[in-house]
Amino acid sequence: MTNQYQTAQYRELDALHHLHPFSHHKSLREAGVRVIVRGDGPYIWDSEGHRILDGMAGLWTANLGHSRRELAEAAYQQMLELPFYNTFFKTTHPPVVALARKLAEIAPENLNQVFFGSSGSESNDTAIRLIRHYWALKGEPKRKIIISRKNAYHGSTIAAASMSGMAHMHLHSYPVYEGFRHIMDPYWYGEAKDGESPAEFGLRAARALEDEILAVGPENVAAFAGEPVEGAGGVKIAPETYWPEIQRIVDKYGILLLADEVITGFGRLGTWFGSQHYGIRPNLITFAKAVTSGYLPLSGVLVDDKIVATILAHDDDFHHGYTFSGHPVACAVALKNLEIIEREKLVPRVKEFGAPALAKMLAKFKDHPLVGEVRSVGLLGAIELVADKRTRRRFDNPGRVGLICRDHFFGEGFIMRAVFDTMVMSPPLIWTETQFDEAEAAIKRALDLTLENVAGELAA
Ligand SMILES: Cc1ncc(COP(=O)(O)O)c(C=O)c1O
Repeated sequence: MTNQYQTAQYRELDALHHLHPFSHHKSLREAGVRVIVRGDGPYIWDSEGHRILDGMAGLWTANLGHSRRELAEAAYQQMLELPFYNTFFKTTHPPVVALARKLAEIAPENLNQVFFGSSGSESNDTAIRLIRHYWALKGEPKRKIIISRKNAYHGSTIAAASMSGMAHMHLHSYPVYEGFRHIMDPYWYGEAKDGESPAEFGLRAARALEDEILAVGPENVAAFAGEPVEGAGGVKIAPETYWPEIQRIVDKYGILLLADEVITGFGRLGTWFGSQHYGIRPNLITFAKAVTSGYLPLSGVLVDDKIVATILAHDDDFHHGYTFSGHPVACAVALKNLEIIEREKLVPRVKEFGAPALAKMLAKFKDHPLVGEVRSVGLLGAIELVADKRTRRRFDNPGRVGLICRDHFFGEGFIMRAVFDTMVMSPPLIWTETQFDEAEAAIKRALDLTLENVAGELAA
């Protein structure tokens, strides 16, 4: 545990030398950072000794919670045995083989081979390369366009950011790659027309894919990419009609379906993969984060047998790979992580206990004066804050009220993330009644404090 003096020192050194991801650097320096020093199960501790309930599982990541000894021991043993060897030069090693085998076992049945990386962004870059390589090998090199959705988040490398649909990322000075198109996202609360039911809206949002395919020419379209649930875009949950219609359109035009399961993989929706929850049949699944519960960086793409068969049918190299593709220590930790998730039956537990508990807790806030909508699926949840519940009018300067609320959550010893003015959560799969009760109390106090701050801006 660090004391007050060390906290100040960490803050100062951090400001002097550390550039943080996705941050407003000027205000970060003015406000100072929070120093997190320890984690245990569902909690983390800061350097001033505050215990904080981690409602984000790190960053959609620590499905087993923090500091599991078995994961540390798996890493330690593997480091003593073989800390690193590459998988480039006609070599492999036991942990990567065992993990690839395990992933093929839990994935949809057409996905039996894995290409590994170290981050979600990398896995999406790999998927983009594989998709275009596949069509080139099939003799259809014009098929390059990948259609994804506005507000999607697929990562921060230039290719993954281009496939993402976040306008603020595209506005950066770097060039956005050609060959990506973005259609509306299935966000009923924000985008539905007056009187449009979720079911009707879901069909309309999915048919935007067909419109876009026809607009750019079906012969030019390689794939559709989507997160089963848009996470970083604000936990936007598609109506039930959406994914079946997307699958119908993908099948009709013979394009590939890429499911970005960087958040929805490994039990979050009560199935191993979100695709299984929605009954879709992706040709590629990208994964990262919770494959190791975040204890070490590891990612990958699960690839359809038909894509692999096409690659094998050609006398050609796939010129792509990362030094750490299939890192032995990360693979050993992932195997142990999946073993524990299975042993403790955490995937069915999400369906039977976690998902209903989260939905029940969030429902208690839907009548709060600040709350426009609460929504959840599995262990992904959101509370959307609005200035006028009746008209769904948002607050001026989006993100301002979300940050006020997030700071109150912190003050109450609880973490939820603010996506503009939507508060999102993604707790570890191990939460019990105790953590749901603690979260409920913290949310209530934080929402009431936020209301005091912004009461003058609410509709009369
Ligand atoms: C759906 C999705 N895809 C890709 C990524 C990028 O992953 P990484 O930050 O590991 O590169 C994220 C990160 O949050 C994500 O949520």
